[in-house]
Amino acid sequence: MWYPGHIKKAKGKIKTYLKTVQGILELVDARAPYASRAYEYDDLFKNKERIILFNKIDIADESKLKFWEKYYRDKGYKVLKTALKKVSVRSFLTKIVYKSFPKKFSELRVMVAGIPNVGKSTLINSIKGKKALRVGNTPGITRGLQWISVNNQFMLLDTPGILYSEIYNKKILYKLILIGSIKPEEDEKEFAIEYGFNFFKEKYPDIIKKALKSDSIPEDHIKFLELFAKRRNFIATGNTYDIERAMSTFLKELSDGKYGKVVYDYPEDYDILK
Ligand code: GTP
Repeated sequence: MWYPGHIKKAKGKIKTYLKTVQGILELVDARAPYASRAYEYDDLFKNKERIILFNKIDIADESKLKFWEKYYRDKGYKVLKTALKKVSVRSFLTKIVYKSFPKKFSELRVMVAGIPNVGKSTLINSIKGKKALRVGNTPGITRGLQWISVNNQFMLLDTPGILYSEIYNKKILYKLILIGSIKPEEDEKEFAIEYGFNFFKEKYPDIIKKALKSDSIPEDHIKFLELFAKRRNFIATGNTYDIERAMSTFLKELSDGKYGKVVYDYPEDYDILK
């Protein structure tokens, strides 16, 4: 289930705490800067100073991000790009994020928000300096809201990842599966891989080649999964290829960025942007 009850509850809590912060630091996955936003937030965060942080820039194709950066800037948000896993988060926060909010108050209080798996725990853990929260490529790990002090003038409010209650477009669902923000239902797995395969074939053939460690591109996703299973020696009972295991392994490695840099979002994917 990608919209469990605890996420709904978290939304209510976020609303209550909103009064106590002066701004929002909203994380998105740079590989899907539009699909990986929680649009429930748009309503919740109206009138709040907002930074959109494109995270995981180390595994994103930066050349495709110009449109999205401008898109958010035109909405009045500040846009920052980083790889929280790679940078010194404390200096990123104190030098860049702190300076990006207007200094109307003696103490800056900022809410950290974002859908599952975009890197919120990575950010908070680096500040706390210990593995107090679970960090992992498993979407939807529940946490309560908690304050974390960056320094004596700057506090962060950690919030659990929330998704929108309805995903209005299949492409968004598939992209969220490919970046690892949604754990797919059984039948969604293959559809997401089929979508990804056709997309890579057209835009990023090297991803397929790298996944198969081969120079040729199979004709469709079914052949691709067979070759992937063969390459890894994933054999099921009855001496057939273990396609289930091939799908899970491929999705895991893909969302971890193992096959190279990618951006899934293109403006023409969205009717509302045409
Ligand atoms: P939830 O707890 O589900 O809400 O997720 P989260 O937003 O707290 O994400 P988390 O910090 O757990 O990170 C998810 C995965 O992304 C982990 O495997 C992280 O190591 C990885 N990750 C976080 N930041 C980066 C980054 O800048 N680059 C890359 N390549 N991976 C990252």
